[in-house]
Amino acid sequence: MVAQANAARASAVAMPLALTLHGSRILVGAGLLDACGAELREALPRRRLAIISDDTVAPLYAARLRAACDAPAPALFTIPAGEPSKTRKQWSRLTDELLAAGYGRDSAILALGGGVVGDLAGFVAATYLRGIPVVQLPTTLLAMIDAAVGGKTGVDTKAGKNLVGAFHHPVLVVADPRALRTLPLAHLRNGLAEAVKHGVIASPADFVWLASNVASIARESGPADEVAERLVRRNIQIKADVVARDERENGVRKILNFGHTIGHALEAASG
Ligand SMILES: NC(=O)c1ccc[n+]([C@@H]2O[C@H](COP(=O)([O-])OP(=O)(O)OC[C@H]3O[C@@H](n4cnc5c(N)ncnc54)[C@H](O)[C@@H]3O)[C@@H](O)[C@H]2O)c1
Repeated sequence: MVAQANAARASAVAMPLALTLHGSRILVGAGLLDACGAELREALPRRRLAIISDDTVAPLYAARLRAACDAPAPALFTIPAGEPSKTRKQWSRLTDELLAAGYGRDSAILALGGGVVGDLAGFVAATYLRGIPVVQLPTTLLAMIDAAVGGKTGVDTKAGKNLVGAFHHPVLVVADPRALRTLPLAHLRNGLAEAVKHGVIASPADFVWLASNVASIARESGPADEVAERLVRRNIQIKADVVARDERENGVRKILNFGHTIGHALEAASG
């Protein structure tokens, strides 16, 4: 088990995200969810940890993450899976529960799940006791290559998506592409659309690679480790390069919204 953990850690690739204001250490590696204990200890020395996840992802991965953490294992807080949970109501419930459990300024949040969990748990971390650290452990392709990187957190409101939030960079991102094996195909395809966008806006070579590998990625059993790692690593690199040049979306970062503005409008119009 220890040897397995070390092997997974050794194959993980560290890509420091060189941002002006906040640095995030970003790790991509198959098997990392079981083997991120040392990285968590290093990033969050002596912190009391709380895992925030959803009720689909938690039964699949929370026990494994808890086992990877130092004792005492972090407590688990869950939300119902899906976009309707990305609300001030869930933010309010989670922060109340953390307060009731006595989490102090020496705490940190582990956000385990897709973009919904990442955005909501990131916003909890940004605001809890005026801000505590967060580690993003994305489990969807979209969250690995987009939502977990770049520091945007927030919740939806009746007036629109993501309208209340904060920039709060994770101290660490742990992306384990092996988690994609349990991700339903429709959600895998959703993340692939983001990878296509990255190819179109920033990297013709990655677009061509994607076109020739799409069949081996979008399959029921999920992509093989090697293909999934390359997909996630390259796409994180593309997003990180853009965010490093324009953290607060005053200029070039707007290119990452390519296709989103109309997407949000269509989502709103179609209910
Ligand atoms: N912060 C940012 O920069 C940023 C960027 C892009 C998107 N987002 C946000 O991300 C959200 C969408 O994220 P998403 O597409 O990951 O949706 P999601 O978080 O709702 O996850 C999709 C579904 O997959 C399930 N799931 C997650 N991981 C799984 C796994 N490994 N195996 C099985 N099931 C799994 C979830 O429980 C959920 O039902 C939106 O709210 C969007 O606004 C944020």
